[in-house]
Amino acid sequence: MKKTLITAALPYANGGIHIGHLAGVYIPADIYARYLRLKGENVLFVCGSDEHGVPVTIRAEKEKITVQQVVDKYHHIIDQSFKDFGISFDVYSRTSKPIHYETSQDFFKKLEKNGKLSIENSKQYFDTIKNQFLADKYVAGTCPNCSNPNAYGDQCEKCGSTISPDELINPRSAFNDSPLELKETKHWYLPLDKYENWLKKWILEGHKDDWKNNVLGQCKSWIEQGLRPRAITRDLEWGVPVPAEDADGKVLYVWFDAPIGYISATKDYFLQKDKNDTTFNNNLTWESYWKDKENTRLLHFIGKDNIVFHCIIFPVMLEMYEDYILPENVPANEFLNLEGDKISTSRNWAVWLDEYVKDFPDQQDTLRYVLTANMPEQKDNDFTWKEFQTRNNSELLGTLGNFVNRALVLTEKYFENIVPEKYNLSELDTQMISDIQKVIPKISESLDKFRFREALDFYMEIARISNKYLQDSAPWTLAKNWEENKEKIATTLYLSLQIVANLKILGEPFLPSTSQKISQMLNDNGFTNWSKAGNFDIIPQNHTLGKAFLIFQKIEDKAVETQLEKLIQAKKDNELANFKPDTIKENIGFEDFMKIDLRIATITHAEKAQKSKKLLKLTLDTGVDTRTVMSGIAEYYSPEEIIGKQVTLVANLAPKNINNVESQGMILMAKDANGKLYFVSPTDVVRNGAEVR
Ligand code: 2FM
Ligand code: ZN
Repeated sequence: MKKTLITAALPYANGGIHIGHLAGVYIPADIYARYLRLKGENVLFVCGSDEHGVPVTIRAEKEKITVQQVVDKYHHIIDQSFKDFGISFDVYSRTSKPIHYETSQDFFKKLEKNGKLSIENSKQYFDTIKNQFLADKYVAGTCPNCSNPNAYGDQCEKCGSTISPDELINPRSAFNDSPLELKETKHWYLPLDKYENWLKKWILEGHKDDWKNNVLGQCKSWIEQGLRPRAITRDLEWGVPVPAEDADGKVLYVWFDAPIGYISATKDYFLQKDKNDTTFNNNLTWESYWKDKENTRLLHFIGKDNIVFHCIIFPVMLEMYEDYILPENVPANEFLNLEGDKISTSRNWAVWLDEYVKDFPDQQDTLRYVLTANMPEQKDNDFTWKEFQTRNNSELLGTLGNFVNRALVLTEKYFENIVPEKYNLSELDTQMISDIQKVIPKISESLDKFRFREALDFYMEIARISNKYLQDSAPWTLAKNWEENKEKIATTLYLSLQIVANLKILGEPFLPSTSQKISQMLNDNGFTNWSKAGNFDIIPQNHTLGKAFLIFQKIEDKAVETQLEKLIQAKKDNELANFKPDTIKENIGFEDFMKIDLRIATITHAEKAQKSKKLLKLTLDTGVDTRTVMSGIAEYYSPEEIIGKQVTLVANLAPKNINNVESQGMILMAKDANGKLYFVSPTDVVRNGAEVR
């Protein structure tokens, strides 16, 4: 049996972990690792924080702290979230560790020494005030597609197009708006073009039947577009210094060092293990996982945005190095959306795990369950709080939890919590056993093919069969005639408890904390082994059970509403924090301005407009006349609170029919980034009719 080395994408230490990360990468990787361990296989599951790259430096600027503070802060938050959700890494390392510097620099040095890399000079934008070359993201300018003056050298947020810095019109520094100089610089390149044929053979021929379609599709399109040499160094301060002569101020490109982080994390695991565990003497080393081609499988779990790096760039690096194994499979997932909108850290449209744990204590398995049931395996998928609630209440609580609870509570009631004897099996019993035994191998088959949603559905099929079995057997009805039926009742409950034991084993990869709870109730010393699944004599007769308790909690409407409100609020707060005023409009002449007659007026009456949520009908005393103005402020102000208020009126705006009322002018309002409107009022009481100029 081969050993399996499982890697999960190293998350950038620039923010917490959200449900998209969990559903896309960490839950599938964890289910798979747990499944293999349960089968008794040798597994090493590695991950760590990706602490380099532009994302972390951008975060530091945003939070006004140092980059080091950013990576320290988020490394710990991320590490804790993984622990909270039972992601069972054998090691969670970080790319700022010395072992990683050493490993990634050695990697570079060997490729360079063996003549695998090329060097090219090119011109790049240089900020003379900051005295540094700028990463793409830091070059600002006008978008060539939509003329947005605030586009960046990687993309334009207004029209969504991907651009490169040299396409920007009037490029300037995003730090200080100063014009940029094009300056020559030297970089090391990975000649991917030389590996095109090798990649075609290895992926498009070698893995055409076992890699997922979404992964193969992306690889094919990259390879067919033609591969070009790719720069693996950058002119930046933050990162692993390039270990070469004449490379001052240069660091390794984050996508060069990050995947090497999997190797460093493996080394880190053995360093820690050797130090802490003196009994650790099974002759395995980090090299047993990375260099033993015959006896190891390497699997990369990632999201779809990482496919090119794990299927093309990193394998080429490994192949160039010569000693290393290549991934056997890269089961990448698509993206998870949230309430119909793309999850976004910068827009704060996400469900953060550290917050979830506070809002739903001890309900991590519910989230694991919903994210697995809805995993974006073949296409993007949507997470909604409503579905979260329904799946919890009807599937986990109503089906799985209900069965487990009834089996235990009935045993407590009729047999004083002691596993009863099994007598002759009825047709119902044998049918149930055969139904369940048919489903179990399907769970394994699905897991072997990385089809986690399907596997979970088969698992729940067992819970459904079991519920029906208990319902049809109806021991509570039989109990009315105890003497006559006691053997039947005993058998039903004996078998039900065996199902519970099966559910515990088979559920462990998906719902680890639920399995632990079931273990506690079965009082079985935590015994779990996949090979026992399908057996109907796991818990022996006469065994004393633990106390029954509820494993799932009902999720009320209120909890879900609170989450939705929280999302909307977070989005608003974020808009406020990221508010960038629009550029100033074209100049107008003084005469044009003087044409506008602005006056101070007092609101003497206000009422809601008919059939409109947005409009208030205002009566104004302008000092000159009394007039009616329709104003779109009803979402922010009630009529009562604004009576008596002085406002600024555009008094000579041509009257307009609004909502069947003639509106005679317009009052000025300041609109904040979150859309909220504020009155533009004098700071002291002024006579009505006073001119504003
Ligand atoms: O996309 C990301 O979040 C990257 N930090 C993933 C890196 S995966 C690996 F190569 F380290
Ligand atoms: Zn644009």
